[in-house]
Amino acid sequence: MYRTHTCGELRIEDAGRKVTLAGWVQKSRKLGGMTFVDLRDRYGVTQLVVEGSADPALQECASSLGREFVIQATGTVVERENKNSKIPTGDIEISLESIKILNRSVTPPFTIEENSDGGEDLRAKYRYLDLRRAPLQRALKLRHDIAHEIRNYLDAQNFMEIETPYLIKSTPEGARDFVVPSRMNPGTFYALPQSPQTFKQLLMVAGYDRYFQIVRCFRDEDLRADRQPEFTQIDCEMSFVEQEDVLNTFEGMMRTLFKKILNVEIANPIPRMSWYDAMDFYGSDKPDIRFGMKIHEVTELVHGKGFSVFDSCPYVGAIAATGCAEYTRKEIDALTEWVKRPQVGAKGLVYIKCNADGSFKSSVDKFYTPEQLKAISEAAGAQAGDLVLLLCGEKRKTQTMLGVLRIEMGNRLGLRDPFNFAPLWVVDFPLFEWSEEDGRFYAMHHPFTAPKPEHLELYYSDKKEDLEKVCANAYDFVLNGTELGGGSIRIHEAAMQERMFEILGISKEDADYKFGFIINAFKFGAPPHGGLAFGFDRVCALFGGQETIRDYIAFPKNNQGRDVMIDSPSRIDQVQMDELFLQSTAPAPEA
Ligand code: AMO
Repeated sequence: MYRTHTCGELRIEDAGRKVTLAGWVQKSRKLGGMTFVDLRDRYGVTQLVVEGSADPALQECASSLGREFVIQATGTVVERENKNSKIPTGDIEISLESIKILNRSVTPPFTIEENSDGGEDLRAKYRYLDLRRAPLQRALKLRHDIAHEIRNYLDAQNFMEIETPYLIKSTPEGARDFVVPSRMNPGTFYALPQSPQTFKQLLMVAGYDRYFQIVRCFRDEDLRADRQPEFTQIDCEMSFVEQEDVLNTFEGMMRTLFKKILNVEIANPIPRMSWYDAMDFYGSDKPDIRFGMKIHEVTELVHGKGFSVFDSCPYVGAIAATGCAEYTRKEIDALTEWVKRPQVGAKGLVYIKCNADGSFKSSVDKFYTPEQLKAISEAAGAQAGDLVLLLCGEKRKTQTMLGVLRIEMGNRLGLRDPFNFAPLWVVDFPLFEWSEEDGRFYAMHHPFTAPKPEHLELYYSDKKEDLEKVCANAYDFVLNGTELGGGSIRIHEAAMQERMFEILGISKEDADYKFGFIINAFKFGAPPHGGLAFGFDRVCALFGGQETIRDYIAFPKNNQGRDVMIDSPSRIDQVQMDELFLQSTAPAPEA
């Protein structure tokens, strides 16, 4: 046996016990005649001590230990003179009798401690060393615990975990596919699943009733803090359900997770908001409802007063930044530059300061009387001391910009505490989204989402304005401004599914080629069904109080989609290319 205990286990009650520990040398130092060694494993750190009176060979061995050496150490647990209240083992140390070096280490490229001195790129290259650090070990443990609770909950609700294939045909989730060439079928490609959407629906046709899977999904899209090219979903599907059943089941799952993992009681019931209200009042389909500062339309109030910028815009909206009337000219100029950045895209920013003395100061004083400024401010929900910020333009675009500005002001005002959890269901999504650029409809969720039964007539109408009004039985689970999950009640009839492809401008031949298997399956007694998928990495990150998911994934990709540790993606040799009937037209890589 290598060890009797872990490095996080021993306490003052163990004083006097003879123990053997094994782990990594975090650091060692000499003090007086004594050598102290911090020994680490994934359970914690324990201090080892070699007394000045110990066997000289042992003393020599202790002083030869370098960082990250792997050792086995035997000794007796003793009470420490200088206790360290910051670590659970801080009351004791191990007075050593022997040390065995199990393996040496070259000097690691960065310190392996709570806060490392290594930059992000260096740590990514040596991910296995970064993973030795306590914050990452806590993150992966949290991930494990959440997965475990999810399986417990869903198992208790009769869900079966069923695996679905990775080498499939394109699934239409809206991103690009990663493709894999087939050697045995020259010139053809598999696509990696963007989600198991079609397979879980086929499992419903097959009678499996309640399915789930904690499953890897692959999407070739631009990466962000909460997006990885391969990520994990908690993917679920249920038969003989309506929207209410799905929402209740997964509200229960999230409630259980919050309680069991964080001991947090979330709102009961979780509030619901229509997609239209989310856009109108928060400028986002994933509103952060931890704070107010809602968007208010003030178009009518500002039009017709001679300010041509507003007069020429179909929509003017405002938010009231709490307590920001004291912003200086310089601060407002900086904020104006901020909204003009391409990431926000506004042309300019109009403000009204609602001074504490009841007066108003605005960048458009020339055009509006104090009474009018007061009326606009009141409509924006402002009180004395607040700063009203106005943007104008096309309605949805302007609302989106105001939504981004709202989040920025929320951050500046410290209103976004990561451990204040405010979940929300966003419901009643439009079924379709019109693209001016492409002159066609896209499915807002995906093309298997059913229209609301009361909108069936609109669904079969040929008029664009009717189709724009069709609402879906679709829902998103939103937490603190992040979309954690989404799903819908599905189409389960072949004719209705064919109509969907028709509206999306997918020809019958193309639909048959791409989705013939599912349209066909619907002809064999498909039950009514629906489901959803949560982004598992996002759930873990938010439970850990973080926005980026990277640290909750053992081996993530960087923002260019690269794994710099294994240096992938990389070229393959000509033999492999030939076997796969591939020819590359990409320029040769730089040496
Ligand atoms: P959707 O596309 O909304 O739905 O994905 C579900 C959830 O997966 C997470 N997610 C991601 N997480 C990390 N990196 C990514 N690149 C990424 N993309 C998505 C999000 C999102 O809410 N088949 C449907 C679900 C259904 O209808 O049942 C689907 O995949 O948290």
